[in-house]
Amino acid sequence: MCGISSILSLNDDIMNDLIFSLERLEYRGYDSAGIAYLGTNSKLYRERAVGKIENLKEVVEKLNVKSNIGIGHTRWATHGKVTELNAHPHVCDGVAVVHNGIIENYQELKDKLITEGYVFESETDTEVISKLIAFHIKGGENFQSAFSSSLSKFVGTYAIVAICENEPNILLGAKMGSPMAIGLSNDQQNFHIASDAVALSSLTDKVTYLEEGDIVVAEKGKNLNYEIFNLNGEKVARDAIPNVVSLNDINQNGYESFMLKEIFEEVIVAKNTYDRFNCDIDIFKFRGISIIACGTSYYAGLLAKYWIEDIARIPVNVEIASEFRYKNPILPKDSLYVFVSQSGETIDTLCAMRLVKEAHINTVALVNVNNSSIAREADYVIQTVAGTEIGVASTKVFISQILSMLLMCVKKDSVDITTIEKNINIVLNKQHEFARIAEKIKNSRSLFYIGRGTNYPLSLEGALKIKELSYISAEGHPAGEIKHGPIAIVDESVHTIAIAPLDKHFKKTLSNSQEIFARNGKILLITTENARNLVSDFDKGDIDYIFLPNSDPLYYPFSITTAIHLVAYYTAKLKGGDVDKPRNLAKSVTVE
Ligand code: M6R
Repeated sequence: MCGISSILSLNDDIMNDLIFSLERLEYRGYDSAGIAYLGTNSKLYRERAVGKIENLKEVVEKLNVKSNIGIGHTRWATHGKVTELNAHPHVCDGVAVVHNGIIENYQELKDKLITEGYVFESETDTEVISKLIAFHIKGGENFQSAFSSSLSKFVGTYAIVAICENEPNILLGAKMGSPMAIGLSNDQQNFHIASDAVALSSLTDKVTYLEEGDIVVAEKGKNLNYEIFNLNGEKVARDAIPNVVSLNDINQNGYESFMLKEIFEEVIVAKNTYDRFNCDIDIFKFRGISIIACGTSYYAGLLAKYWIEDIARIPVNVEIASEFRYKNPILPKDSLYVFVSQSGETIDTLCAMRLVKEAHINTVALVNVNNSSIAREADYVIQTVAGTEIGVASTKVFISQILSMLLMCVKKDSVDITTIEKNINIVLNKQHEFARIAEKIKNSRSLFYIGRGTNYPLSLEGALKIKELSYISAEGHPAGEIKHGPIAIVDESVHTIAIAPLDKHFKKTLSNSQEIFARNGKILLITTENARNLVSDFDKGDIDYIFLPNSDPLYYPFSITTAIHLVAYYTAKLKGGDVDKPRNLAKSVTVE
């Protein structure tokens, strides 16, 4: 949620790198973008534009900026509408700030600053930051002291970077609850502060992650120097680690979108996850397992519940992190707590994990982003080795999450990874069939995904992807629940995608589809080749089929995942939206 980036340089050509790093961060939000910089005359300038970074880039390119210090931001709106006035950086009396997070007590601070004569121009919480720093400077403090004094007044979460016209050689950053990575370029000419290592890929080979309460002070003299101070104001050293995000990870490699590239990577992701799976935890030692996550990661947990309970016979509780953390959860010490997250930064999942840690219970993180906050704070980490996922809608990571959780409860060599790979490949080669389905559903008033067993969480995932990318109202339901209410919505303008491979639920799901069909609902059946003869007795009419490859039913979820991702992809493409950056969303949800 919001991406921040900044550069302090020994040279005056920072602008390309600043915009480049902001573009890398666009997955964190793309409601508006902005930069502030000091020109060679040490004056503060600001440029902002509503919409994606390309709009800002267009403005900046025309300016031919020369600058050696600048900050940038890409916004996912929390407080205040998507307008240029609300776009960051926020500026006051020569101080400019960018912020990721929420200042919860901003109203109280704002009221006080108004009585001091400050006039607010935006609806954001962030504006109090620039104004409060300016207020402290006016009171006689230097930039660094004014920055620290202001931080001590904030309640909430933040990653803040600030520059000041009066002290043009200093770049300040602070982290509390929102991630922040820093790094020096290999030639020691540029110092960067940004939201994550993705922003710094190809700019720094090594990154250092700040810890909660840290402040970084970077200064330019003959060379670039920086110091980190902890919450108590003590100078601290934090390890620099290799920046493993490569340019290859963040390139589209000829695909028309990152999402399509990432769906096509589902085969290799399955193989890598299998080959590199490494888990020291024996789940059979525990009397229960709790899986806590949000969104698609939560659905991966729901799917794993079916497997773990069926195979390992251990009760599994799957919880939405934002609910879990506020419900005074019962935390049996003989349970295993697994926190699933692609980004490793989802604030609700992170806070839920902290709650469990506070009860002195070990936590396991199943995360895709190495060195993310959840990975760093968990007692044990299992990495989903899906590689960097740029598309805002999570796709390939879901495959890695479910396979990892399957591998937690079965012997590795009992899993036929070759079949999983082969079947995902077969699905990928049926693109024209998914495009045909997309053509049918693109104008649906409403859409249902239904399924039983593991096909139920897959229905939730399929519906979420349709909603996120095509903005069609879509619901996932257990097929057996449809007649308990949702069927009231059904008429000829509603499509239902029934996930019914030939497994123990097949006949029942088919019956539930018949019930919808009988009420003029349109049915699209995702089934398996071995069911071809069995679906032919379905009434003739507006029914379409996609036949997926046969396999042991245990492996169906992998090929079905690729199928539902392709359905969502082609539908979104026909609707004309930006599949990589759907409206209103951000990839890393660092606000509650
Ligand atoms: O990074 P996380 O896995 O913790 O993110 C959880 C959700 O925000 C995420 O899965 C979200 O639902 C995606 N937009 C799904 O495509």
